[in-house]
Amino acid sequence: MKFFIDTANLAQIKEANELGILDGVTTNPSLMAKEGIKGEEAVRNHYKTICEMVDGDISAEVISTDFNGIVEEGKILAAIHPNIVVKVPMIKDGVKALKWFTDNGIKTNCTLVFSAGQAILAAKAGATYVSPFVGRIDDGNWDGMELIGQIAQIYSLQGFKTQILAASIRSSLHIVRAAELGADVCTCPLEPILGLLKHPLTDIGLAKFLEDAKKMKQ
Ligand code: G3P
Repeated sequence: MKFFIDTANLAQIKEANELGILDGVTTNPSLMAKEGIKGEEAVRNHYKTICEMVDGDISAEVISTDFNGIVEEGKILAAIHPNIVVKVPMIKDGVKALKWFTDNGIKTNCTLVFSAGQAILAAKAGATYVSPFVGRIDDGNWDGMELIGQIAQIYSLQGFKTQILAASIRSSLHIVRAAELGADVCTCPLEPILGLLKHPLTDIGLAKFLEDAKKMKQ
């Protein structure tokens, strides 16, 4: 399973990248706004900076909602760097645009996916990635991880090539469950990634080893 970081914060991207386990970055308009990025040029420059920091797929989201707007915006985003993946919402014109990008060799990430039916449409349109929002489904008292398993089963049965990108990840356990259920990618904030490191027995064991190591010194 690939690890993407879900943020537009450069310090957090740097920290995850330095761990050596980062395969890419996902962003969305909310994450860009959180970093205070304003204006089309600043947005493009920010994506360029991220692409220069991380050697992997970088999702950049369109904000148009009509076919022509999505295609024009996507072309501009894709021209920033070869690693840009155009992120397109799961709406009717979005599906049409996904197909256009597929036919024109531009990688895509279909976002705001909350059902297996939507995931089938994204795959039919040739999306590179499909992003089911696990945490937001959990927020509504459904089990977001069930959807990951359902999509994995459908894609495997049908031979769809679209990669399942588990998104809206809120905890380290989400990451483990996504891996168990066959997600191809998990995109998460830095905290759940670092949370994977934690186990009290590791801390206790290391303290004991270091204490005993002192006995080995002359
Ligand atoms: O990857 C999608 C993500 O950015 C949404 O996460 O926590 O806002 O539901 P969240």
